Amino acid sequence: MRQDLSRLVDGTTYRSGNPFDLWRRMRENEPVLWHDAGIFGEFWSVTSFTAVKECLRDPDTFTSSSGTLLRPLSQGHDPGSGKTLALSDAPRHTALRAAVADWFSPRSLRTLTAAVQSAAHATVTDAVAKSQVDFVVDIAAKVPLEVVWTLLDVPTADRAELTGWSMDAFCAGTASERSIAHLEILDYFSVLAEKRRSRPGNDLVSVLATAEFEDTRLPLDEVVLNCDNLLVGGTENVRLAMSGGMQALLERPEQWALLRDDFDRVIPTAVDEILRWTSSATHLVRTAQRDTEIGGRRISAGDRVVLWLTAANRDPVEFAAPDTFDVTRSPNHHLALGAGPHYCIGVQLAKLEIRAVLRELTSQVRRASPDGPAERLESIVVNGLRSLPVRLDAATKACQRRT
Ligand code: HEM
Repeated sequence: MRQDLSRLVDGTTYRSGNPFDLWRRMRENEPVLWHDAGIFGEFWSVTSFTAVKECLRDPDTFTSSSGTLLRPLSQGHDPGSGKTLALSDAPRHTALRAAVADWFSPRSLRTLTAAVQSAAHATVTDAVAKSQVDFVVDIAAKVPLEVVWTLLDVPTADRAELTGWSMDAFCAGTASERSIAHLEILDYFSVLAEKRRSRPGNDLVSVLATAEFEDTRLPLDEVVLNCDNLLVGGTENVRLAMSGGMQALLERPEQWALLRDDFDRVIPTAVDEILRWTSSATHLVRTAQRDTEIGGRRISAGDRVVLWLTAANRDPVEFAAPDTFDVTRSPNHHLALGAGPHYCIGVQLAKLEIRAVLRELTSQVRRASPDGPAERLESIVVNGLRSLPVRLDAATKACQRRT
């Protein structure tokens, strides 16, 4: 098994879509395993549900400030380390989270519901009119981007250009298009953050640009890094979960039928099963701040632990028949959204978006079928599809469920 471990940090493993056998063997034999992953350095790989959850819930021992993703050692620390919500610890993390929390509260979500539903309706209607589409690009990428533009109150006139850059940066672009587009986005956010600092509005950029921590405002570069985090967290993961969920449903017509025929009853468990099944955030990194122990292994201060969420979400100790996709699964306490103080702040928004798109699809589409081979991303950070060609046959007006 040890020689197989290099596959864990090789993007082609995820492109082929089959890292599960390796994770299963790690979980069964050494769920907390020390190894040297070449350019990524040495770390502990943690694959069991219990151990992953324990680490996530213990920020006093396992810090997020030194970075939460595996990066080649030569790249040094993540530029957001210690500065963004995801990459900070208490007390800074607590203060940052409190500043933005209101935007993810049930009250704010009620206001956002109309925007989410209208984005889902328009996007699915366009896709059904085309009939043959790439589900990733034409549906799953578009809805979360529209929603994030609403949260950040990006002026309508700028949205098409920003959507284009985001598609290049996170979805469809080549490596050089990706980095150029990402720089364009960061530049755009710098200008927007400066404007909102002098003339705040009612949006998340204004909240970040004007919030005070220990009587000082966040430097503008930190406002920009936090906006970027929201964009990446709020769009990439939703896109990957939606498209992976759609693929699972296409491959299992009986699950699609269960959802379509009893939508309101099945949708809550279906969304959680899609999140567990897709586990779009492949791993999270933490760094031990003191000597400790996980699963009987001694961890030294300074050691990195890599928590493989995708592996934990298929642990048979926690999930019955973990390799079965079951839209009625309950209970389903998966870790796709993390756990502990950094638990995904966008959880309800993500669920709302997935639900809205599935509602439109099960209502507007009579038959959905694969229309060519799906392609997976070559990434060790996010797990999922690069493209999913589908054919959507419209339901007749008489058959459409009222949404
Ligand atoms: C399917 C959708 C999503 C998945 C799978 C997902 C996954 C995650 C995970 C695993 C974490 C924990 C990170 C850690 O512990 O280091 C997280 C945190 C976070 N997510 Fe999400 N996320 C999703 C949707 C969203 C949305 C829609 C937004 C906002 C628009 C969002 C914003 C954030 C932010 C800001 C954090 C950092 C929270 C903190 O550190 O306190 N996410 N997400």
